[in-house]
Formats: sequence, C-alpha cells, structure tokens
Amino acid sequence: MNCCIAGLQWGDEGKGKVVDILAEQSDCVVRYNGGANAGHTVIIGDQRFALHLLPSGAVRPGCRCVIANGVVVDPAVLMEEIRGLQERGISLQGRLFISENAHVVLDYHKLEDRLREEALGKNKIGTTARGIGPCYADKVGRSYAVRMADFRRPEELKEKLRKIISYKNKLFSTLYNAPPLDADAVFEKCMSWRAAVLPCITNTTQLLFEAIDKRQSILFEGAQGSLLDLDHGTFPYVTSSNASPLGLGPGCGIPARYVDRFIGVAKAYSTRVGGGPFPTEQNNEIGQYIREKGHEYGTTTGRPRRCGWFDAVAVSYTVRLGGITEAAMMHLDTLAGLEEVKICRAYRIDGREITFFPGDSRDLETAECVYETMEGWKEDLSEMKHYSDLPASARRYVETVEKHIGIPITMLGVGPQRSQVIYRKPL
Ligand code: IMP
Repeated sequence: MNCCIAGLQWGDEGKGKVVDILAEQSDCVVRYNGGANAGHTVIIGDQRFALHLLPSGAVRPGCRCVIANGVVVDPAVLMEEIRGLQERGISLQGRLFISENAHVVLDYHKLEDRLREEALGKNKIGTTARGIGPCYADKVGRSYAVRMADFRRPEELKEKLRKIISYKNKLFSTLYNAPPLDADAVFEKCMSWRAAVLPCITNTTQLLFEAIDKRQSILFEGAQGSLLDLDHGTFPYVTSSNASPLGLGPGCGIPARYVDRFIGVAKAYSTRVGGGPFPTEQNNEIGQYIREKGHEYGTTTGRPRRCGWFDAVAVSYTVRLGGITEAAMMHLDTLAGLEEVKICRAYRIDGREITFFPGDSRDLETAECVYETMEGWKEDLSEMKHYSDLPASARRYVETVEKHIGIPITMLGVGPQRSQVIYRKPL
C-alpha cells in the first residue's frame, strides 16, 4: 500500500505526526518537495523531534528515508539533524538515500533570501530565510546550479563554485551593497560534508521503481501545505515548490497511479506564517486564544502563527487539487473552551457569493467570509479515545466540515502525542 500525505492549508497542519503513525507500516518514507523550510514535529513519549529536512520516518529505526530530486538539500542542516538523532540513539546509517539530482542549498542562497526580503520591506513574502526560493530559482535557471551529484566531482565543483560565486558577488554588491563571499570557503564547507553525504547519494527514482516492483510500502511525505503550492497556491505568497500532491511526479519520478491513498491533513482551524491573504484570520482574542492553546509558533522560525477559523472553501479546493481521498483533522482539542466555533462555507467578493477558491489570490484580500456558526464545547478532549467519547457539539463540528469538504475525516488529533489520535476507521 502506497500512501501520500499532504497539507491542505498553509503548512503546519500536523503532517509529521500522521506520517510518523503511518511510517510504522511503511518500508520507505519519501520527501519530494521543499527543503529545510519545513518543520515537522514528532513527539514520542517525553522526546520531541523537530525535523526540517529529514523525512519524519527518520525516527522509526528500520524505515528507509528518501530525499528525492524535488527537495533542495542544505547539507549543514542535514548534518545537524543526523547528529541530533544519533545523540538520541537513532542511526540513519545505510537507510538514508539522497537523490543525485536534488539541488544543494548553499550560503549564498540563504544570503540572497535574506537580502531580497529586507529589500522588499513591507512587501516581503515572509520567507523562512532558509534559501529555498533562491535555490529553486537557480535550478530553473540551470547555469548556476549545484546538485548532490556534484559532490562526486570535487574539481568540477570547485570550478563551478568559483563561477557561481563570482556572478553572485557582482549581483549582491550591485543590488544590495553586500560584501563578497569567498568561493573557496564555500567549497571547503562542501568538502567538510563530502565524506558523510557521498554514501547516501544515489538514483532515488530507480530505488523507488525497485521498491514498487517489490511491492514495498512507500509513504510520500509532502512538506508545507497545498495553499503554498507555487503554481496553485496564493501566489506570490507561496513557497517555491509544488507543495500539493501534484508535486509528487516531478519531485520523485513516481506518478500518482502508484499511490493507493492520498491523505490530506488539516487543522480544525487555520493558521498561516508569513505574508499573504488569509480570509478567515482572527486578528483578535479568538486568534490569540487559538495561538496560545495550540502553541502556534513556528517550528522553523519561532514566529507567531496567524490564526483563524476553518476555511472549507480553501480546503475543498485543495482536496480536489490533490486527489485527496480522506482527511486527518488535527488540533480538535485546541478549539475546546470557545463559546461558538465557525466554518467558512463561502466567500462574498464584490457582492457575489462564491464557493470556489479564486484563481487570482488578490481577490481574497477583499473576500468577506460567509460562516456557519456552531455551538462550541467545553470538555477537554485530550484523553478521549473513541469518536463516541466526543461531546455532541464536537462531533457535529467534524461532520459539518466533512459535509463541506466532501471526503471522510478518518483521523482526529486531540493532542500532540502519537497516541492522542481518534481513529474513525482502521489504519
Ligand atoms: P519559503 O518557503 O521559506 O520561501 O517561504 C515562503 C512562504 O512559505 C512563507 O510564507 C513561509 O512562512 C511559508 N512556509 C514555508 N515553509 C513552511 C512550513 O513548513 N510551514 C508553514 N509555512 C511555511
């Protein structure tokens, strides 16, 4: 059974936990998009793992971890995460595979990300400053790109870096008055990672073809959320990869026909980090309540997340976009204690009510939300194990969301632990 897990909102939906649960029955977990901008938190007992680059399956010994060609790899972060897991007794030796075609994030990408955002001032995207956009831009531009395969050819890499950094230095000094970077220092850093990364670099597309032929079970782990998808999200306030399941084919070479289940993960409310339209945002005491109760602060940057009501228009859109067959709703426990809870069922734009997500996200800036308002619940859900344990109003809330998004909600998150999940059907 092959399964793809993707975020249905603007990231941070709790995918890490769902991936971790499903990784138990998977031979292999694959990251196919994004880079160290992701922040997946997995909590097992009293241990908290915050992963940015490694697939969440890394914490499951025995599970093969694949970083496919669609990911942009920051070797500095990679080394740190491997070391962090090793210190907790989890080894990745022999089970981490990185595509030779994955592009490499280097210091000049992170610098460019920061310089560009600073120069944009109030129009900035609000990126994670992890160099993601500049690295993908170099990939598309082709002439100044470094891929993992380049670690195999140090002499060529040295020359390539000299050429790239000479170009970048001209660009950064002209545009941003930035001091020059030293190409040889960047090369030396690459050499310091080389021995550790070389054994992991391989043809991951072929590896996945073979896993499919052997009928192994593969879990594809999407990073970020579908509304941050470069082509189908709220452009330009998006990330630079296809963060919806549409990124699967280009990101790892495996077409959707080999995937049996597409599980979408959404929170019981909405959050977003960085700039961009957010129709259901509650910039008030409701948003504050959700932020504090749900610990809505970024795993990667620590930034407070913007919080708001569940947006069924946006999620119905991402469900269709990703061919999602079932959903996991996380953080249902966070909504406890609110007098009433709301679900956005339509937008009113220029006096017209619509239930589809606008193609030009600028239209969202003036969208008024049409809400379905429901009674809240006071009970703490965190110890509940069965759907029937939930208060009637919480069940009504889940079922109303389900009706709006048109697919079954099969898992409900009621706390951060692996065990705090209510299953509405067997895994
Ligand atoms: P970038 O991916 O760092 O270029 O950031 C672009 C936008 O995507 C910003 O609004 C970020 O806050 C957002 N973003 C990137 N990765 C994540 C994530 O894992 N969770 C939530 N938002 C993210």
